[in-house]
Amino acid sequence: MAEIKKSWYKEMSVYQIWPRSFYDGNGDGIGDIKGVMEKLDYIKSLGVDAIWFSPLYKSPQHDYGYDIADYKSINPEYGTLEEFKELLDAAHAKGLKVIMDLVINHTSDEHQWFIESKKSKDNPYHDYYFWRKGKKPNGKKPPNNWLSTFTGPGWEYDENLDEWYLHLFCKEQPDLNMDNPKVREEIKDIIRFWLDMGVDGFREDVITFISKKEGLPNGFPIPAACGMEHYKCGPNLDKYLGEFREVTDQYDCMTVGEAPMMTPKLALRFIKEGAGQKLNMMFNFQHMEADCFMIGWIHTPFNLRKLKRVYNNWQTKLYGIAWNANYIENHDQPRIISRYGNEKYRVESGKMLATMYICQSGTPFIYQGQEIGMTSIRLPEIDMYKDVQAKDTYKLFRKLGFSHKFTMKTAMYASRDNARTPVQWTGGKNAGFTTADEPWFYINQNYTEVNVEAAEKDENSILNYYRKLLKFRKENEICIYGDFKLHYKNSRKLFVYERNYEGKRMLVINSFVEQPVCFSAPAGFDLSKGKLVLSNYEVADNTLNSFMTKPYETRVYLFE
Ligand code: NOJ
Repeated sequence: MAEIKKSWYKEMSVYQIWPRSFYDGNGDGIGDIKGVMEKLDYIKSLGVDAIWFSPLYKSPQHDYGYDIADYKSINPEYGTLEEFKELLDAAHAKGLKVIMDLVINHTSDEHQWFIESKKSKDNPYHDYYFWRKGKKPNGKKPPNNWLSTFTGPGWEYDENLDEWYLHLFCKEQPDLNMDNPKVREEIKDIIRFWLDMGVDGFREDVITFISKKEGLPNGFPIPAACGMEHYKCGPNLDKYLGEFREVTDQYDCMTVGEAPMMTPKLALRFIKEGAGQKLNMMFNFQHMEADCFMIGWIHTPFNLRKLKRVYNNWQTKLYGIAWNANYIENHDQPRIISRYGNEKYRVESGKMLATMYICQSGTPFIYQGQEIGMTSIRLPEIDMYKDVQAKDTYKLFRKLGFSHKFTMKTAMYASRDNARTPVQWTGGKNAGFTTADEPWFYINQNYTEVNVEAAEKDENSILNYYRKLLKFRKENEICIYGDFKLHYKNSRKLFVYERNYEGKRMLVINSFVEQPVCFSAPAGFDLSKGKLVLSNYEVADNTLNSFMTKPYETRVYLFE
């Protein structure tokens, strides 16, 4: 069996903050750095070791911070650089590391580089972006057929230059031309800027898109993400990541790259440990597709077998040679209880889903509000949505002939806005998120029941379960470094796996359904010899090798 290399980034767990909706410290209805500062003790109390901040930088917020206007300053709505430094110090003083979002595939169209680049074709910044002539005969057609991943053409025309610029996301997010060595030097400078300040690593946004095929050839004509074969893991990606790694190698930091459409085999090219390694981990999307086809908006019934197949693949293919980044929620994904769990069994399924992924091999990431079992808001009218992706996808669906009713049903299930409602801190006004009259976005009306204050008081809350689970992981190396073996492979109801490490064994049993299922311990396991270390129900007799599961039951047995 492969010898596992130990490291701090493998042992940690990470809490993700999407700043706008975390906590408002200055009473203007928008989450901010002051708010995070006030909640540091709470974050620490979860038992996590690091915070990943979704972009805090100056940004016009067309894509809520993923459109950066200045990489070295803080969005005034969130605070100042001085306040950030204080937060960084305070977090470090509590033993919490800080991970920044590095968004370098594109900038905002309000970034100074872009403003310069569109002044003239001979401006020194012109070549920082992909400016191209339109198609003949009159140049009024985009240079190629690539589509924005947010729908619509991937190009925007500029009258003044009579040229088009590439944007793989919204038109306010022009793609940077990473083939220009000057751009790469700028990126290295940004990386150094934050690492010199003391941050502990980066989550790298759509990092596998940064190298585009020379000549930007037409893509295979499909209605979504057309052109992706020419920029996903493009020709110079390894080279560019290698250059950035030379910088990060000079610091004790970690990197996790966001990687859409990634497979374990392809991922190993970048994250296999050893000399050629480019990133420490990758966020893949495959396990988020058990209830949809590729993108959340093509909704399919939840398929546990598909989920298990994906997990099994990543867990076994990476074990001993690379490391997983495990998540079930983030700011782009609807709330997991509303997808793979069951709101009727919010507490039970919330705990089961937490166990299911945190007990696997990999670094766990927990998204704000996940730890109290927040659910999707399901906004009923398109005008209520804030997310550019939701608005654009709505338009596309309507254009493709889908009815308003069907499209809204889809939006309510799949929109990223489901994850972006303010964190519910109390059962009081505005869920305790802000003292302003109005928060910047709708608050899920279940806040009177689902909130941090109530969860703190309830020993059996999801919140307190997360604490136990993270403590267990920290105190038991098997939960961090153990291998992974799937049982009940074909079951559509149970997700059962074992882990082994240095002579110890662990058995993780999860039911994904409401109905009772007959569980029998896999061959070689005698539950009466193990210790039940985690569960979401009182178990009268935990020594029975066969039992009927309760709705969304989870149990973890440890054999020492
Ligand atoms: C991935 C980010 O998570 C998402 O929120 C953003 O819209 C795109 N990348 C573009 O930056």
